[in-house]
Amino acid sequence: MIQLKDISLSYPGHPAPVQALQGVNLQVRAGEVFGVIGRSGAGKSSLIRVINLLNRPSQGQVRVAGAELTALSASTLRAARHQIGMIFQHFNLLSSRTVFDNVALPLELSGVRPALIRTRVDELLDLVGLSALRERYPAQISGGQKQRVGIARALASKPKVLLSDEATSALDPETTRSILGLLRQINRDFGLTIVLITHQMQVIKQVADRVAVIDAGRIVEQGAVIDVFTRPQHATTRSLIDEILPQELPASVIARIRALMAAEPQRSGQLLRLAFAGDGSGQPLLSDVIRRFGLDLNILHGQIDDIQGQTFGSLAVHVRGASAQLVQAVAHLRSAGVVVQEEEIAHV
Ligand SMILES: Nc1ncnc2c1ncn2[C@@H]1O[C@H](COP(=O)(O)OP(=O)(O)OP(=O)(O)O)[C@@H](O)[C@H]1O
Ligand SMILES: [Mg+2]
Repeated sequence: MIQLKDISLSYPGHPAPVQALQGVNLQVRAGEVFGVIGRSGAGKSSLIRVINLLNRPSQGQVRVAGAELTALSASTLRAARHQIGMIFQHFNLLSSRTVFDNVALPLELSGVRPALIRTRVDELLDLVGLSALRERYPAQISGGQKQRVGIARALASKPKVLLSDEATSALDPETTRSILGLLRQINRDFGLTIVLITHQMQVIKQVADRVAVIDAGRIVEQGAVIDVFTRPQHATTRSLIDEILPQELPASVIARIRALMAAEPQRSGQLLRLAFAGDGSGQPLLSDVIRRFGLDLNILHGQIDDIQGQTFGSLAVHVRGASAQLVQAVAHLRSAGVVVQEEEIAHV
């Protein structure tokens, strides 16, 4: 549905231009929710604005719904943009217009007949659950309600693609969940393709099918959300995941492990980080490994979570046993699909 090919973008600046994007390649499939995550200044807004050509890249091609936007004239580009809706962090509503009139605006601008506008806006307000608030002004509704207006307005021209630039960043966690739920529902019911950018892994976890991680203007990692959570490759990805699945071990725990290791250097053991996904088989597997290889195992930190219906667990464990048995135990866990990272205790 969306293809970005070798995109670079720079902004004029002094003393040198700002290189905001470099060699970005992305493919977003029809009907998926695709998340782009990165720290502040990584280039997320620059990237999403390339998709509808609000930012024209200095290099590369943008294709959306079969049209190469980068090759279109100004007037055909305007028509092609009707396929692309957008929602924003600060909603961008007109304060002098009611909820109804805000949603009606894009239809008025494209010359739709008033009678048709009324039916379409009624449908949209019903869809986002705001029919009762149609005569209110933006100042008279909550942030979550404003974003619902934003969503209804973005859907007015029946786009194939919805772009979301930090649409939930100004909202509390509960409201964020309800807005993400609405986006998911629209995605499922209408097959709308959604690209959302965020700096919160929580948002990715709740709603995205696939994710790309952007760092200093480059995509450093991408894949299915469950794979990226269980096998993060890049340091930026790990630190973003760490914010919702903390892996830091308390200093007191580390001190205790060090003491254990010093007391019995020949059985000092290893610190392992285990990640498992899918059917939640991590626990029985562990007790099996302990028995089979005669290990002592101490769980230091553990968490089980859910990524859109799939169980995802992470555990930090200290295992002790004969070194040959330890090697076999790690191999056994890996062959059972557990991601095992062996950590040097001195580096913890
Ligand atoms: N209009 C502009 N002119 C010059 N530099 C810009 C402009 N817009 C963005 N930049 C720079 O480009 C880089 C990427 O900015 P961008 O806004 O895309 O980041 P972001 O990931 O969306 O950040 P945030 O999470 O804070 O919104 C930054 O270094 C920023 O300072
Ligand atoms: Mg931004």
